[in-house]
Amino acid sequence: MSDRPLYLMTDPACFDVCYQINPWMRPDAWRADPRRALAAAKDASAELRRALQDLGAEVETIGAVQGLPDLVFPANAAIVLDGRALLARFRHPERQGEEAVLREVFTRLKRRGLVHDIVDFPDGVFQEGAGDAIWDADRKLFWAGHGPRSSRAALAVIARAFGQEVVGLELASERYYHLDTCFCPLAGGKLLYYPAAFTPAALATIRLRVPEVQRIEATDEEAQAFCVNAVNQGSRIVMARAPDSLKRKLTARGYTIAEVDLAPFILSGGAAYCMTLRLDRQSHPERAIIAAE
Ligand code: ARG
Repeated sequence: MSDRPLYLMTDPACFDVCYQINPWMRPDAWRADPRRALAAAKDASAELRRALQDLGAEVETIGAVQGLPDLVFPANAAIVLDGRALLARFRHPERQGEEAVLREVFTRLKRRGLVHDIVDFPDGVFQEGAGDAIWDADRKLFWAGHGPRSSRAALAVIARAFGQEVVGLELASERYYHLDTCFCPLAGGKLLYYPAAFTPAALATIRLRVPEVQRIEATDEEAQAFCVNAVNQGSRIVMARAPDSLKRKLTARGYTIAEVDLAPFILSGGAAYCMTLRLDRQSHPERAIIAAE
């Protein structure tokens, strides 16, 4: 296996906004000119892929499947850590068809040695992958969103599957329906988050665990631009087109921003983080280095 970061993305050829399972989804806007919208989506996806490659990453691609437009959001496919993939179970029938496709995708990745183990949630537990279970490499724990999409019962399953601490955060609104829309741990221990997305109890948990100097709060405008839904590697952050206010905040703290115009995917309620899934994340990367020496 190479030591370059490895991400999964999906070929956007069958992307479409034809149903509405979150308040951002705009089938009407898509329908106004579907050919143009799809062409713009293909360009945006290619631009995001290039931005990841610019970070030094490799990208594996899931083939497009007709009738499964939201397959373009592989953050929802599974939770992956230390070579183990815990496959998602989708809340909405519109996305449940993705489960069989994703099982095949991960079976193929396993055959190639890119993951070594595939595990499942028990029946009746919903969990929408890394979109609702974000690994915090500095604190060595999962932050797990629940409420709109993922069940609270998923937290204990994640903890058992990976042998890691899981901190649950209840999401307060349908607008910020996955944790990755409002919460982004950054390398070095900082946290970009949107406070209004959380219940009072979840906010209290965040503020207890993350000291104020490490918290970077997104404004309404910044969250609505889907900029919290970002991919971070070291000091670099890839995100949708960002308001100047956010760029100033992050550059002042030493981060470099790469912006990608992801407007066609924001019409479905997703952006940079959702369109990717990191496959090679290790809970203890320092041990992997020692083992390789
Ligand atoms: N239309 C998709 C849905 O509602 C968007 C998913 C975005 N993914 C994410 N991880 N936030 O499920």
